[in-house]
Amino acid sequence: MKNLIVAIDGPAGSGKSTIAKLLAKKYDLTYIDTGAMYRMITLYLLENNIDINDLKEVERVLNTVNLDMQGDKFYLDNVDVSTKIREKRINDNVSKVASIKIVRSNLVDLQRKISNNKDVILDGRDVGTVIFPNAQVKIFLIASPEERARRRYNEFLEKKTEITYDEVLKSIKERDHIDSTRDESPFVKADDAIELDSTNLTIEEVINFISKEIEKAKWTTHD
Ligand code: DC
Repeated sequence: MKNLIVAIDGPAGSGKSTIAKLLAKKYDLTYIDTGAMYRMITLYLLENNIDINDLKEVERVLNTVNLDMQGDKFYLDNVDVSTKIREKRINDNVSKVASIKIVRSNLVDLQRKISNNKDVILDGRDVGTVIFPNAQVKIFLIASPEERARRRYNEFLEKKTEITYDEVLKSIKERDHIDSTRDESPFVKADDAIELDSTNLTIEEVINFISKEIEKAKWTTHD
C-alpha cells in the first residue's frame, strides 16, 4: 500500500493553505505547511540578530533549533509562534532566508521525514518539483497579483495591521520575484502539475476541482 501525497504549490495569497487545510479535513490527510517552517527559521534569525550571510551561524541554528507543528499551531523551541510568523517583518525577510541553500536542504529533509508513512497534503513552492517529485496529485495554484494582494490585505485588516493595499501588492510582487528567480529550487511549475487559476473561482470550486484529482489518485494508492 502506497501513501498518498498531494502537492499544492503556489505564490503568496493564491489560497493554497486555505485549500490544503480543507482538503486535509475532507480526506483525513496530514497537512504540512512548508512555508511556516521557513517563517520559523526567519523569526529565529531576526530575534537573535543573526546575519543571514554568516552561513556557519545559520547552519548552527538549523542544527539546534526545534521546529514542531500541531494542527494550526507552530512551536519554535517549544514556544508557540503561530501569530508571530505571520507578521510583516517575517513577510519582508522570509524570501531571502528561503533562498539559502543550506536552509532549503535542511528543511526539505525535515519535510520528507515528517511526511513518512502518512497520507499527506503539503503546500509550498517546491513540493511537486523538489520535495516530492513523485506526488500522485500536483496542483499549481495561481491567481493574479492584484487578487492575491486583495486577499492578504483583508487578512491584515482583520488583524488590525497598519498597511495599505499598495504596500501589500508591492510586497507580494517582490516575494514572487525573489522566490521564482533564486538559484536554489526556484518556484516553478512542475511539468506534470495541473495549473489552476483561482482568481475568479470560489473556494468551493477549487476544492471540487482538486477533490476529483485526489479521488482518481486514491485508486492507485489504497485499495
Ligand atoms: O507560503 P508562505 O507565504 O508561508 O511562504 C513563505 C516563504 O517561504 C515564501 O516567500 C517562499 C518560501 N517557501 C519556499 O521557498 N519553499 C516552500 N516550500 C515554502 C515556502
